[in-house]
Amino acid sequence: MNETLKNIKSRKTCRRYISDKQITEEELNLVLEAGMYAPSGFGKQSPIFIVIQDKEIIKELSKINTSIWKKGPDGFFGAPTVIVLLSSPEIIHTYQKDCMAAVENMLIAAESLGLGSACISRAQYEFESEYGKELLKKLGIDESYVAVEHVILGYRDGEKVLPTKRNENRIFRI
Ligand SMILES: Cc1cc2nc3c(=O)[nH]c(=O)nc-3n(C[C@H](O)[C@H](O)[C@H](O)COP(=O)(O)O)c2cc1C
Repeated sequence: MNETLKNIKSRKTCRRYISDKQITEEELNLVLEAGMYAPSGFGKQSPIFIVIQDKEIIKELSKINTSIWKKGPDGFFGAPTVIVLLSSPEIIHTYQKDCMAAVENMLIAAESLGLGSACISRAQYEFESEYGKELLKKLGIDESYVAVEHVILGYRDGEKVLPTKRNENRIFRI
């Protein structure tokens, strides 16, 4: 099996990170680049990426995220890097799908680099809040942009678990 397929098959959502050990700039840039190389509707390359490594900002966004999810103390699981993917319906109607294509590329890239990663929801609520809107304003991001998803990154705390067995009977041929 080639390396790409190995990484696709070994990727596993990580929900425990070494919070005080940041990923390297090189690792971050490689993951971002993988996201930028994802396919996009009409080739518009609509997603933009906000990299957040400031503990206080991550904490504030996690508070909003967790207030909706209510499944634990931290929706980002202590990951030291949180990347928000945003896109605008004014660019292209595929804006959400564009972000998700980039998310998947980034998760596979993270796996290939030995990083822990996860795709995390509820970004839209965070950036519809006054706190989130203020962040977008500070970054000069147009109001039409919608926060679609997060990719969280870091070094895994503990052993990697094996990927879940895939359900069968999902492929049809005609
Ligand atoms: C669209 C999408 C949204 C997700 N949102 C969350 C989330 O908010 N929190 C979380 O812990 N995992 C989230 N996940 C991760 C899934 O729970 C995970 O992919 C699933 O349990 C299968 O595990 P695996 O990724 O290890 O194969 C999300 C995954 C996808 C594709």
